[in-house]
Amino acid sequence: MINLSQMLKELVRNIVGLAAVAVPISRRGPFRHVGGAARRAIRFDIWANPDSLLQMRKVRQQVAAARARHFLKGDIRMVGTNGKVARGTVDHNIAGARESADLDRPVVLVQVVSAIEKIRKNISNLDVLSVGPRSEIELFGIRAAGFSWNRIKAIDLFAYSPYVQTGDVHAIPFPDNSFDVVFLGWVLAYSKDQTGAIREVVRVLRPGGIAVVASDYSSEETHTRARVDSTHMQNSDQMLALFGEHAGYVYFRHDPQMPDIHMIMIAVEVRK
Ligand SMILES: C[S@@+](CC[C@H](N)C(=O)[O-])C[C@H]1O[C@@H](n2cnc3c(N)ncnc32)[C@H](O)[C@@H]1O
Repeated sequence: MINLSQMLKELVRNIVGLAAVAVPISRRGPFRHVGGAARRAIRFDIWANPDSLLQMRKVRQQVAAARARHFLKGDIRMVGTNGKVARGTVDHNIAGARESADLDRPVVLVQVVSAIEKIRKNISNLDVLSVGPRSEIELFGIRAAGFSWNRIKAIDLFAYSPYVQTGDVHAIPFPDNSFDVVFLGWVLAYSKDQTGAIREVVRVLRPGGIAVVASDYSSEETHTRARVDSTHMQNSDQMLALFGEHAGYVYFRHDPQMPDIHMIMIAVEVRK
């Protein structure tokens, strides 16, 4: 039987939803000569797939910052750390979560991996783990690339977000061969056992899965700000060497050119 009141509620919700996105789309630049039917289709698509808005950096930033302000007023969950985690890691990163919830740098990791054809073709069916996202913006970038919410998992030493569970990269709380992609963005600098951390990344990746790892160039002088005591990372060879015999095809590598270019990054297929 049709429930009239439910139908009315649904109708009102739909009208409110449509009204909310019925903002005029610019008529300038590439939007000139775009007729009403295309404009309606665009509006409908946004209404039907609101997550597609996360493809816009400004939206990711606003949403991540607003949600961080909301959740950081409440409980922050934490995992007990061990001798493998550099001193000061959690305090430093909680401060970072407050100050830079809108730091959108992890999106570059996602862009690299989603350019890989075997990922791109099947992206909504792949299991992905983000290790150390700190704020939700990394997860929004992953979602925006086309991964499905129910296949995105995230662990960090502390968590305020319902999308993130507590966990340590040195003992990842998932079974062997659970993921097709693991993101490890700017996390290794906090590990005193980088080989052990990557061993865990390899363990939870499926054969042929892809690890995307990034860090900034680090030396005695450049590493004092975070007050951490991990091994310094200086180039992609050093990063790849952590994978040992498990390093397969390298899809992407990026090296620093000091003093201005700091990033070290690899996207490597795992052989096991
Ligand atoms: C510098 S932030 C990077 C945040 C984000 N991935 C990015 O690229 O901007 C490092 C994050 O890694 C987390 N982290 C550090 N050591 C970790 C460990 N052993 N296991 C899990 N997360 C860790 C920190 O708590 C922090 O949230």
